Amino acid sequence: MKIKSADFVISNSDVARCPNEPLPEYAFIGRSNVGKSSLINMLAERKSLAKTSGRPGKTQLINHFKINENWFLVDLPGYGYARVSKKDKNTFQKYITNYFLQREQLVCSFVLVDIRHDPQPIDMEFMQWMGENGVPFAIIFTKADKLKPKAIERQVKKYLDQLIADLWEEAPPHFVTSSSNRSGRDEVLAYIDDINEK
Ligand code: GTP
Ligand code: MG
Repeated sequence: MKIKSADFVISNSDVARCPNEPLPEYAFIGRSNVGKSSLINMLAERKSLAKTSGRPGKTQLINHFKINENWFLVDLPGYGYARVSKKDKNTFQKYITNYFLQREQLVCSFVLVDIRHDPQPIDMEFMQWMGENGVPFAIIFTKADKLKPKAIERQVKKYLDQLIADLWEEAPPHFVTSSSNRSGRDEVLAYIDDINEK
């Protein structure tokens, strides 16, 4: 897919104030610092469309980016950031939950996990929650440039085995990516394109 345009539209903390055009959208969620905003920039081929940082907790709002005038990439705050106060955590949780449960334009979410880490309860619980609430998602492994191919294979298998063990009939679709070397870009965009065409 060729990216002809990528434009920031709006940031907010209220699902009711997200763009009301009937265009399909794709949201990126996962632990703070996993690489959500970097992946959005990599997919859109724009260096700083979404704001990134080496410090976790950078993205704080629901951010809509319009691509090729006919679909949206949505950057979300991360979960599991220990230095956010309890009050802020609850506020975050509420509007992210509302976003996933209420946003009709959301056709697929991507749950990002750092390929270097073994399956973590917080991620498995989040995927469980998505499954129970009927929110379709695919898994994106990030930072693949940090591991050799054999280790990548091993980590992916660990996750898929864990998901099956947690009583999933089949594991969701998954992609291995790196925002540094752009690997996985074509696959993720082809997946999005496919859904957009339906
Ligand atoms: P929050 O907004 O805080 O939730 O973080 P985020 O998930 O949006 O992460 P962000 O894209 O800001 O990236 C976090 C850090 O990881 C930055 O220092 C990025 O440069 C780095 N990073 C992101 N993707 C990759 C990748 O594919 N490879 C490597 N090596 N580093 C990456
Ligand atoms: Mg971010």
